[in-house]
Amino acid sequence: MKFDTPAGQNPIDRLAVVGQPIERIDGRLKTTGRAPYAYERHDMVDDPAIGVVVGAAIAKGRIGGIDLAAARASPGVLAIVTADTAGTLQKGKHNTARLLGGPEIEHYHQAVALVVARTFEQARAAAMLVKVRYEAAPGRFDLAAQRDSAPLTGDEGHEKGPLVERVGAFEPAFDAAPVTLDATYRTPDQSHAMMEPHASMAAWDGDRLTVWTSNQMIDWGRSDLAKTLGIPKDKVRLVSPFIGGGFGGKLFLRSDALLAALGARAAGRPVKVALTRPLMFNNTTHRPATIQRIRIGATQDGRITAIAHESWSGDLPDGGPETAVGQTKLLYAGDNRMTAMRLAVLDLPEGNAMRAPGEAPGLMALEIAMDEMAEKLGLDPIRFRALNDTQVDPAKPGRRFSQRRLVDCLEDGAKRFGWARRAAQPGQRREGHLLIGMGVASAFRNSMVMTSGARVRLDRAGLVTVETDMTDIGTGSYTIIAQTAAEMMGISVEQVNVRLGDSAFPVSSGSGGQWGGNSSTAGVYAACVRLRDAVAQRLGLDPAQAVFQDGAVQAGGRSVPLHQAAESGEIVAEDSISFGGLSKRFQQSTFGAHFVELSVDGFTGEIRVRRMLAVCASGRILNPRTARSQVIGAMTMGVGGALMEALAVDRTRGYFVNHDLAGYEVPVHADIPHQEVVFLDDPDPTSSPMKAKGVGELGLCGVGAAVANAVYNATGIRVRDYPITLDKMLDRLPRIA
Ligand code: MOS
Repeated sequence: MKFDTPAGQNPIDRLAVVGQPIERIDGRLKTTGRAPYAYERHDMVDDPAIGVVVGAAIAKGRIGGIDLAAARASPGVLAIVTADTAGTLQKGKHNTARLLGGPEIEHYHQAVALVVARTFEQARAAAMLVKVRYEAAPGRFDLAAQRDSAPLTGDEGHEKGPLVERVGAFEPAFDAAPVTLDATYRTPDQSHAMMEPHASMAAWDGDRLTVWTSNQMIDWGRSDLAKTLGIPKDKVRLVSPFIGGGFGGKLFLRSDALLAALGARAAGRPVKVALTRPLMFNNTTHRPATIQRIRIGATQDGRITAIAHESWSGDLPDGGPETAVGQTKLLYAGDNRMTAMRLAVLDLPEGNAMRAPGEAPGLMALEIAMDEMAEKLGLDPIRFRALNDTQVDPAKPGRRFSQRRLVDCLEDGAKRFGWARRAAQPGQRREGHLLIGMGVASAFRNSMVMTSGARVRLDRAGLVTVETDMTDIGTGSYTIIAQTAAEMMGISVEQVNVRLGDSAFPVSSGSGGQWGGNSSTAGVYAACVRLRDAVAQRLGLDPAQAVFQDGAVQAGGRSVPLHQAAESGEIVAEDSISFGGLSKRFQQSTFGAHFVELSVDGFTGEIRVRRMLAVCASGRILNPRTARSQVIGAMTMGVGGALMEALAVDRTRGYFVNHDLAGYEVPVHADIPHQEVVFLDDPDPTSSPMKAKGVGELGLCGVGAAVANAVYNATGIRVRDYPITLDKMLDRLPRIA
């Protein structure tokens, strides 16, 4: 099905099932421990061997030699895979560094060997006996030091999008503006820190490979695994029905899956591999650090006339920039604009997507800058944002936002949160030794759509089964897909069986970039349209007239139970949805507002978040319960980004030092006392027949700045360097008592 006109009325609009706060249909499996994750697929093969990954102990250089004798002689060892023995490997499309290093080493903890043994303990003991002789080379590990070596690539097009974009003439407009801001912000390297580690189990059957893994994008992973191994894609099956968190860290094929496949081939039996937690931080991808310079010029009455956002980030050779300027192209009006990304070469581990790549770190900077600018103008921060709202793409005035309720989100949130109680002057509200502050930030994330397919079956019992390679990374995909099929076929969620995450099923959008909820359900919608036609035909009813409701099909005064259509045999229908030109004609984005109230201890600088509110306008909400879970999880992650999370870079040896969950801090429940989420009614007919968008990333976008702005409101201390740890405030805290 091609979708290239705004959606009119369709069966989804009944909202009998879609839009309802239905509990997760996979919830019971998860809470009872019966949802099988990749490392636990003992049911699929007998007695798999275990592979343990050896990571490089240098960040850059070469392997001079590997001595495997002691490891080979160690008890239980079945095989050892290194670049020497693995045969020719290609590089996948989605990874920058090779997943099995050697002799060249591209980053610290790049895999250099897999030791396969009968048990985990044997494999681990033998892995420690692998002796690698390294020839280290100097590397570039410090973004700030490399900043000047990161030139603009120029205004010409670039493979990953133009790095410099201009509208009007920024510099003269900025110079002429009566009120200006020129400030620089820093965000650190961050790790996804999902609960389930990267894990895979691989089994060969002749030349056919099956990998049970934990991967957000089945078709990307399947393609890259086939490409890397140099075998036909149709010989590879990827299975990933349950995923214990991804956050972008599992968008791509990683070393666990490749090495499990290589290990299984070498050992001649199934092998499973999980990355240990200390390997994950340097072996896999991370969100790259940024340095962001923002300049804003405005009239005395608060209208932005000039805005520039430049971002520096680093990555391995052939990597890409963190696209931290993306939102600044679209969020606020202003005739003269410049955005630029500058990319330095760094020999740190591979930078790549982490939840809301681009907007998440970009808004951490931009939304502090907006707060600073509002203060210079003597305007309330919400009023300043509302004054500079735009309903068109500022670079292409003919291109409207399909829906844009940013100001509604800000104003609705202000009422609910009690924004009027905020003191405009910082440092005014005190409770004993505690300084109390409130902060706000806009939330913005682009809304992408992806081709997505599904197969649906109706059986004799009237049950519908949906099959698609869509994944559920903890987001609720199972549930919203069941709701979609139930709504389309006029049955209840209990009558729908959802099967996900298997490359044997039709290719879906996968879970990434917050496109999965809308795109994958739209694909199920398309397949159900076909199934409805087939059902009507079998029953001799006019498909155009047929109404599917209460387990029956009605047309021309007749009502026939749905299951009757399948009495002579199961009916199978398959289709996919692809999105035509609508996202070219309309700018599709999601909007919200984040509010934070917190206290800062006047003696110690300790920050305690008290209340948070997110108001989101983000298309139709397919399930308010699962959507709310997404947003509160994202808000929690935003607090982590604001106050705790940072990978500490060893600038001499080139690795992330705090590579475990003891050293890489994320919030716990006690850090987040009260969160509220409100969704404005906002179905978007240009987004898909579902009229939905995403919220999973929107919920994170802006949170960090709302926290930073609240810290400023509490203390008068502007911290522009995340995370906002108390050492950055201690010597500037206002005198109390
Ligand atoms: Mo998202 S960073 O595309 O999983």
